Amino acid sequence: AYEKLWLACSVLLILFLIGTVTYGAVGPGVAMVADSEQPIDAQNLDEDDRFSDPRVEQVGENEYAAYVVAYQFGFSPDPIVVPENSRVTFYVTSRDVTHGFEVAGTNANTMVIPGEVSKLTVETDEPQEYGLICNEYCGAAHHAMEGKVTVV
Ligand code: CUA
Repeated sequence: AYEKLWLACSVLLILFLIGTVTYGAVGPGVAMVADSEQPIDAQNLDEDDRFSDPRVEQVGENEYAAYVVAYQFGFSPDPIVVPENSRVTFYVTSRDVTHGFEVAGTNANTMVIPGEVSKLTVETDEPQEYGLICNEYCGAAHHAMEGKVTVV
C-alpha cells in the first residue's frame, strides 16, 4: 500500500518539477526564445536529412541550426558546439523514448518526444561550456544521460 502512495507522490513531484522548470528564471548566457513541435518518423531518423547526421549548421549571419538526437543514454552530437553572440535554434528529437533537453543553469529546457521535433531558440553570448542534462526519466541510466553545449 505504501508503494502506491509513494508512486503517487513521485508523479506529483515530477509534474511539479516540470511546471517549475518550464517557467524557470533566465540564466546567464543562454536565453530561450521559442518552443514548438512538428511530427517526424522516429523509426527512420537515419533517412531524415536533419537527423541522419546530427550537427550544427550556419543558416544566416550569426544564425545557426543545431540538429540533435536524444537517445538512451546520451545526446548526439556531443558536444554541441555553437558560436558566441549568435542565435541558435535547436531541433531536438528522440530515437527511442521521451527524454529531456535542459541546458544546465539556463532556462533553455524542453521535453523531447519520439515522433516530434522540439524546437528551441537561444541567444548565446560569451564562450562557455554548459552541461546538457536529461530531466525526464528514461530508463536505468537516466541519471547518467548528459552532454555538453559548448559556446566558442
Ligand atoms: Cu534521457 Cu532521462
